[in-house]
Amino acid sequence: MKFFLDSANLEEVKKACDYGLVDGVTTNPTLLAREDDDWRGLATRICREVTGPVSLEVFSEEYESMLEEARNLLKLGPNVVIKCPCTQAGLKACRTLSQNDVAVNMTLVFSPLQGLLAAKAGAAYVSPFVGRLDGIAHDGMELVRQLVTIFNTYQFSTEILVASIRSPRHVLESALLGAHVATIPYGVMMGLLKHPLTEQGLTTFREAIYNLEMDKGPQE
Ligand code: E4P
Repeated sequence: MKFFLDSANLEEVKKACDYGLVDGVTTNPTLLAREDDDWRGLATRICREVTGPVSLEVFSEEYESMLEEARNLLKLGPNVVIKCPCTQAGLKACRTLSQNDVAVNMTLVFSPLQGLLAAKAGAAYVSPFVGRLDGIAHDGMELVRQLVTIFNTYQFSTEILVASIRSPRHVLESALLGAHVATIPYGVMMGLLKHPLTEQGLTTFREAIYNLEMDKGPQE
């Protein structure tokens, strides 16, 4: 299972890469707008920092201008993946880009049928938004389960990229369901390692080591 970092913050990208946890990065207009830097320069620096795919989203909602934007976004790095919204124009753009060997991440996927259409349009990734579904009292992970079934049944090469992740639980459930990728906010990614029993165990070992060293001390 691959871990992408869901962030446009260069410091977060650098730190998570340094920990060896990042197989790729996803951004969106909201994440880019949170940063002070010029977004094109920032996206270029993120592409240089990461060896894996970096998703950059088109701003336009029209087919022709999506393609024009995609052409410009692709100049920002060799690892750019074009993110298109799961709309009619987005699907059309996805098909055209995919036919030209451009990797597309279909975003804002909230139903299994949207995901199926995205896969049929040749998307490299589909992004089910689990947290936003949970937020309106739906079951985000049920969507992932349905996509896994559909993609396995028809042997699509499209990868399921679980997005809108809010907690380590979402990451665990994505892994158990066999999703290919989870794109994870920095805070959640750092929380994956934490366990109170690990901390407690280390405290006990530290005390034991202290006692061992105290015992050893006088014999030397
Ligand atoms: C990732 O590709 C998405 O843009 C992201 O996970 C959006 O999630 P949100 O619900 O936190 O905005």
